[in-house]
Amino acid sequence: MSSNISLKGRGVNRIITSKVMLSPLAGVTDNIFRRLVRKWAPNSLLFTEMINATSLKKGYGTQKINQIDLEEGPIGVQIFDNRPYAVSEAAKQAEDSGAFLIDINMGCPVKKIAKKGGGSALIKDRKLAIELVKNVVKAVRVPVTVKTRLGWDSKEENIEDFLFKLQDAGATMITLHGRTRKQGFSGKSDWEMIGRLKKLLEIPVIANGDIKNPDDALNCLKTTNADGVMIGRGILGSPWKIGEIDYFSYE
Ligand SMILES: Cc1cc2nc3c(=O)[nH]c(=O)nc-3n(C[C@H](O)[C@H](O)[C@H](O)COP(=O)(O)O)c2cc1C
Repeated sequence: MSSNISLKGRGVNRIITSKVMLSPLAGVTDNIFRRLVRKWAPNSLLFTEMINATSLKKGYGTQKINQIDLEEGPIGVQIFDNRPYAVSEAAKQAEDSGAFLIDINMGCPVKKIAKKGGGSALIKDRKLAIELVKNVVKAVRVPVTVKTRLGWDSKEENIEDFLFKLQDAGATMITLHGRTRKQGFSGKSDWEMIGRLKKLLEIPVIANGDIKNPDDALNCLKTTNADGVMIGRGILGSPWKIGEIDYFSYE
């Protein structure tokens, strides 16, 4: 089975040649940390920390995207905000800095962010979520992706409908953290549900949550049949982890 993940952009298509990716982690995945991770994972898609679009426009946080084009390998830039114009402007800026793709954060549970309508609040405000994706797809040539959760309060919120709408709006890959917003980091990431949703979508799906070692990654890939896995907390203090999991995730 080919492990390549092909992503269509409006002007530029991208191919990811490793199915093991580094999560965006605020306060962690800056360029220094990414350089360490890259030593062991030459082909993996790595992400910036989430970047607030409005702040970027005002000149704050530019260090998070500066000189991405000078880094080795693919770097996705993750943006969060609830203002469509700001998000597309930030996406353009990130593209000009060398973003391999633009990811929109629709999963962050932090109150400060969700209260303003960004992050996981977009699971509830589907109209705005669609508008954000459509605007960014129009604004940039590189692929546009979304990272989200399985629901706001519960898993009975017709999340399928949300994901179909994102797909129709032009999202070219979706990462699913297998928890709801309400769960935060409690309970377990529901890989079975990620698998059910993966089956319904045409675009690639990346499974996320509770993958800490190669065995977890293989089990998760088997359970979800996802196109790839994304590792967050498992990398803390172990920057070689993505490379290690990548090595063992190919049969
Ligand atoms: C310290 C920390 C920072 C995070 N920052 C972000 C972020 O900037 N953007 C995002 O989409 N998710 C963020 N997350 C969520 C992770 O990307 C990931 O979805 C979550 O931790 C589940 O995966 P894991 O079990 O592999 O950690 C963060 C999580 C942690 C623990």
